[in-house]
This record gives sequence, C-alpha cells and structure tokens, in this order.
Amino acid sequence: MKTYNLCLLGFGNVGRALARLLAAKAEEMRAEFGVAWRITGVASRRLGWGVAREGFDVGRLLAGEVASEASPAPREVREWIEAARGEVVFETTSLEPRTGQPAIDYARAALESNAHVVTANKGTVAHAYAELSGLARERGRRFMFEATVADCLPVFSLFRECLPAARLSGFRALLNSTTTVILEEIERGRTFDEGVERAQLMGIAETDPTYDVDGWDATVKVCALANVLMGETLGAEEIERVGIRALDAMHVRAAREEGKPFRLLSRAWRDAGGRLRASVRPEQLEPGDQFATLGGSSLAVTFELDVLPGLTVVASAPNLKSTAYGLLADFLNVARDEGKEGR
Ligand SMILES: NC(=O)c1ccc[n+]([C@@H]2O[C@H](COP(=O)([O-])OP(=O)(O)OC[C@H]3O[C@@H](n4cnc5c(N)ncnc54)[C@H](OP(=O)(O)O)[C@@H]3O)[C@@H](O)[C@H]2O)c1
Repeated sequence: MKTYNLCLLGFGNVGRALARLLAAKAEEMRAEFGVAWRITGVASRRLGWGVAREGFDVGRLLAGEVASEASPAPREVREWIEAARGEVVFETTSLEPRTGQPAIDYARAALESNAHVVTANKGTVAHAYAELSGLARERGRRFMFEATVADCLPVFSLFRECLPAARLSGFRALLNSTTTVILEEIERGRTFDEGVERAQLMGIAETDPTYDVDGWDATVKVCALANVLMGETLGAEEIERVGIRALDAMHVRAAREEGKPFRLLSRAWRDAGGRLRASVRPEQLEPGDQFATLGGSSLAVTFELDVLPGLTVVASAPNLKSTAYGLLADFLNVARDEGKEGR
C-alpha cells in the first residue's frame, strides 16, 4: 500500500468534484489498487497556498475550511509543493486559451519539483504538450491529461493502449457541451443568456463562458488532439474559428423544426497537399446524423484511421463527476505504472 500526498491546484467545480470523488472511492482505491492518499495541499487565488502535511479533512475542505498550517506561508507554487511534500499535483485552474498560462508554468514547476502532473486544463496540452511531456520523461514523472478534451471519455488512453500503429487522418467532433446546452435552450424558446446560465448551473461552462460561446474551448481541444494524436503542432490561430454568438434565434428554431439542428462542430482533415486543416464552427446536422441524437452535456468524436474509416466514441450526459473521474483514472494509472516499476 502506498499513500500519496496530493496537491489540488484550483479548487472550483472540477477541483471540488475531484475531492468528493476521491473521498467516495477511497476504500475501493485501497482495497483494489493498493493506493491510499491524503490531500496535503490546496490552492487557488482566493484560498492562497494551503498546506496540511497530515492531510486536510475533505468534509471541512468542501465546507470552505482551508486552515493552512505552513509557517512561513508558501509564496508560490514551488514552495507550496515542497511544503506539502506533493507527489501528484492536480492542475484544475481556469482556461486561458491564447497562452495556456499560468497553468503551463504551474505544471512545469510541479514536474521540476518531481511531482506527477494530472491536469484538466486543455491549455497546457494545446500550448506546451511537447515541452511538458518531455520534461516529465526526463524527470521520470508523468504528465497526464485525459480529462482535458472530453471529460472522462478515454480518447488519449484509447490511442495509447488500444490503437498501436493506427494512423489518425482526421476527426469530426462535438467537443463543447456549453454551446449544445445554449442552442437547445434557444430551440425550446428561451434566450441565449438563459442558455449560458443553465450551462453555468450544470458546472460545465468555462470560468469565462465567452471561451465556450466564441469557440475557443473547442479550438484548444482540437489543438490538443492534433498535438497528441497526430504528431502536429497546430496553433489555435491556424484553426478556422466561428462561435455561435452570431446565430439568429429564429434561424436556430427553424433549423430544429426542419430536423437539422445547429451544433458547434470541430473538424480536422488533411488537404490534398497533406497539410492538416481544422475548423470549429456551427453546422447543421443532417437527419440521421448520430451526433443529432446527443443532447445536453454529451460529447462525441468520430476518428478516421488508416485501419478503420470511422471509430466513434461518445460520452452520454457526462457531468462534473465524470471529469473528476478522468483525473482520478489518470492518477490510478500513474500509481499502477509506479507499482510495476517498483517505486
Ligand atoms: N467544468 C467542467 O465541466 C470541465 C470539464 C473538463 C475540463 N475542465 C477544465 O477544468 C478547469 C477548471 O474548470 P472549473 O469548471 O473547475 O472552473 P472554476 O469552477 O472556475 O474553477 C477554477 C479554479 O481555478 C482557480 N484559479 C483560476 N486561476 C488561477 C490562478 N491563476 N492561480 C491559482 N488558481 C487559479 C480558481 O480560483 P479562484 O476561485 O480563487 O479564482 C478556481 O478555484 C478549466 O481549465 C476547465 O477548462 C472543466
């Protein structure tokens, strides 16, 4: 049995859902995987750099009691990880789509402090995948990010574990659920703003929901998929990005009545010259399109492979627990690999 010191960097919707799921699965993790844990660090802008070397009480943490014992108080991320003796840092801070910062600096600092990094922040993968995975390899640590693109839908581990030597030539995907929820609300006769509010209540909107509405979230996810699965370094500025803001409500309702609803679709493909191209924009789904049956927070990707023309993975109505599970599964996979390596 190994007990891991966990540090939670970001304690919003996802960080809190992770703390709840860790607590709910603690017994199972011990009994089935020989993995125990204590949360020795919790940090956010409001909370500061909280440390409890024997582990925070999760119930009190969730009730907002983050009494830090560190003296002097850590002033930045490296001091915090050192004070908390962090072995795994869960990075769940807000997305900044243009630069991926400060999450990239946080992840780099954690790896340099010899901690594994498990992130839900797609900005790190879109902007610094090569650097952070290289640094992790150098340090004998892991940079894990299954929760970044489709909550807990296993896209990266699917390729890593099940599709060796398969070449991905393109994909078509429903990667942003906030826009689906907004469009569905408009289809039901409600307003755009009511749609945003509903997505916020579900906890699925970005901290700044304009990143969903204007297509940034989906664009950064396309970059992440291209970087990791296609060996490309596709920049967000290279992707045609059109959000849903300019869609007229009457037009959205008429499209639904016609059986051809609008959804924000992401696509990547190779052009005749072999160059990778990508787009994120609202498109009308044809009747019978399998994506048209998916509503609410559901997400889906159809991959085109050299060995299989279409492989579709779907997450039906994932929620915050699903995203937290993406992080928890990454953690258990790191622990399993460490066990195999005899650490
Ligand atoms: N929500 C989802 O369904 C979902 C699904 C998959 C992935 N994600 C990703 O998960 C991440 C978190 O999402 P969320 O829904 O939990 O957002 P959230 O509820 O807004 O929480 C964000 C957390 O990050 C902290 N934070 C923001 N900037 C920070 C900084 N510069 N330094 C330290 N802490 C900082 C915030 O602290 P303060 O409160 O003090 O500002 C807050 O605790 C995002 O990257 C998002 O893209 C979310």
